[in-house]
Amino acid sequence: MTRPLRLGVNIDHVATIRNARGGSHPDPVRAAHVAAVAGADGITAHLREDRRHISDRDIERLMDEIRLPLNLEMAATGEMLAVALRHRPHAACIVPERREERTTEGGLDVAGHPDHLRPIIGRLAEAGVRVSLFVEPDPRQLDAAKAVGAPVVELHTGAYCDAEGEARDREFARIVAAAAHAEALGLECHAGHGLTYDTVAPVAAIPTIVELNIGHFLVGEAIFIGFEDSIRGMRIRMDRARREGGR
Ligand code: PXP
Repeated sequence: MTRPLRLGVNIDHVATIRNARGGSHPDPVRAAHVAAVAGADGITAHLREDRRHISDRDIERLMDEIRLPLNLEMAATGEMLAVALRHRPHAACIVPERREERTTEGGLDVAGHPDHLRPIIGRLAEAGVRVSLFVEPDPRQLDAAKAVGAPVVELHTGAYCDAEGEARDREFARIVAAAAHAEALGLECHAGHGLTYDTVAPVAAIPTIVELNIGHFLVGEAIFIGFEDSIRGMRIRMDRARREGGR
């Protein structure tokens, strides 16, 4: 039987636009309510060390005011662990973070830092938070994710989305192989980063991937067609690909 495919709508860039003027509009919590109406299964938000988009107050309000499960993207730092333990969101996705990057540019080096990650994952799991690790589609990183006790991995789809032609096919093959490897290890598999209407279908058709997290494109497309319709358009494309199998 086909496993359902969840859509986590990332609302970071609603906050980016709000913060451009320092006021309260557009409100990411309102965007989360719209996402729920449009068929999102969850809300994803990245609280960065520099608070460039989502703020601590946004996380508080998302926890209080929305019914959908919250997936908190966070760096593996003491500060972010304390935030996660205070709010206990449904899920936390541990991501690498560099202050000077424009976005999360690569996956977490789990294989290089197992001793740093293991206790953080343990503390979150004890608090009832489902932990995922954002990794490149690389079997070494998946093996390491299993070894440090993460139940879920999210495959970074950025290189696939950025590539064109045969290079994109090669990147896609890495995602397919990584999804199969995660399944063999017993890891739940998610995917995200850079996905658009043009790139989502092949990824959505991989039957063992059960969640996609998508943000920037949805917020950008909302400028032209509104946030609700931009999310509905994604939902239609991913559900169709899931049913019909792909490319
Ligand atoms: N998944 C993770 C772990 C991310 O860090 C991001 C970006 O914040 C996304 C998914 C969504 O990426 P995009 O905004 O490019 O759709």
